[in-house]
Amino acid sequence: MNKSLLINKKIKPFNKKINVDGDKSLSIRFIIFASLAKGKSKAYKILKSEDAISALNCIKKLGIKAKFKQNYCEIIGKGLNGYNYTNNLTLDAGNSGTTARLISAACISSPNFIKITGDTSLKKRDMERIIKPLKKFGVEIKKNKGTLPLCLKGSTNLKPINYVENLGSAQVKSAILISALISSAKVSKLKCKPSRNHTELLLKHLKIPIKIKKTKKFHFINIKGKKNFNGFNYEIPGDISSASFPIVLTLLSKNSKLVIKNVNVNPSRTGIISILNMMGALIKLKNKKNYKGEQKADIYVKSINNLKAINLPKSFNNSSAIDEFNLIFICAAFSRGVSTFKGLLELQSKESKRLDWGFKMLKMIGIKTQKIGNHGIKIWGNPNLKLNKSYIIKNYLKDHRIAMSNIVLALARGGSWKIYDPESINTSFPSFKKMIKSLGGKIN
Ligand code: S3P
Repeated sequence: MNKSLLINKKIKPFNKKINVDGDKSLSIRFIIFASLAKGKSKAYKILKSEDAISALNCIKKLGIKAKFKQNYCEIIGKGLNGYNYTNNLTLDAGNSGTTARLISAACISSPNFIKITGDTSLKKRDMERIIKPLKKFGVEIKKNKGTLPLCLKGSTNLKPINYVENLGSAQVKSAILISALISSAKVSKLKCKPSRNHTELLLKHLKIPIKIKKTKKFHFINIKGKKNFNGFNYEIPGDISSASFPIVLTLLSKNSKLVIKNVNVNPSRTGIISILNMMGALIKLKNKKNYKGEQKADIYVKSINNLKAINLPKSFNNSSAIDEFNLIFICAAFSRGVSTFKGLLELQSKESKRLDWGFKMLKMIGIKTQKIGNHGIKIWGNPNLKLNKSYIIKNYLKDHRIAMSNIVLALARGGSWKIYDPESINTSFPSFKKMIKSLGGKIN
């Protein structure tokens, strides 16, 4: 039987200042870009989670010297074509979609077939979304129904591409930008639905020729490749996706206050704060600072007992809260009124089918829901809902965010909980349990 943890007690009121682990998106991007740079790069406060370790192991297998030290990560890159490709190389991205998709792109000029694979959950996820553009560049790909494992072989004669990215996926956009950077000295042109823009900001910081024009519906990006860049230093701020768990824990607990220091508040990531504030929360960002194109700040949050339902406007950019919707559903469950969320089909393509989980979990705790097509959810909130039964979370695909969302719910609202596969938390937030304990939460 897999491991489980038990929660039987609500958390007591707390008033604390905390830090969360480093931003996962930025940490993996640092690892991949540093491996393509010329010379030494260093990242302080980098995330040392299983996903980041998978990315580091992939570049090491490609002949790049890289290690996690006590408080930083050091990588010695050998330039855009510096990987050492051996025959029959297999790269294992573990649970990390970002690693699988970005490292496939980084191998675009491989003269030998390279196999990219991952764990049970990652092997179920759609790779067609990157196979299509990579093939357009001229990469040869042997695939398994559009999922991992896939085998790819590049060439030194790849062409620039024009591409429309319609999913609003930062991973797809980043895979195309990395491919364009490595493959050709000519301009690739990309029209993409808005999504987190860390890759563009990093490319700009590294002085890669990139032009971006933004409209509300699409971002137009032109990038000229084959421009080598030198090693660089970075200090990774906290991850807003990780910060979202203690934010919601504070909101839904009694008489509590929390400050989360030094979090990345890039506007393409702060959807959860906008949504919760629209629902009546008073979450504030203080001490805002710019850092290499990104923005960081301290997040101030306090408990609220009168959240109101939300009808999320169609115009809202769902990708800015894509990893946080399960927490948002929990908040909707305890708010006054009926909430609706649409356009969330991408939630079904994550580490597990997270929209399905929303229905299942809310039903289990006694909340009425209804499907909106195959992409949305209607939630009848009940601020008076008492959780006084036993609840079991099986989490078959070991989805880290499902485990943490349920722990937050259990600690804030009570009940007797058994949550399986809690070690999945290590994929993104290794200090989660320590953080919960520092707030007074009891987990066995
Ligand atoms: C990520 C982008 C998002 C997000 C994932 C990390 C990234 O995925 O869900 O956790 O680092 O680019 P998509 O880009 O596929 O939406």
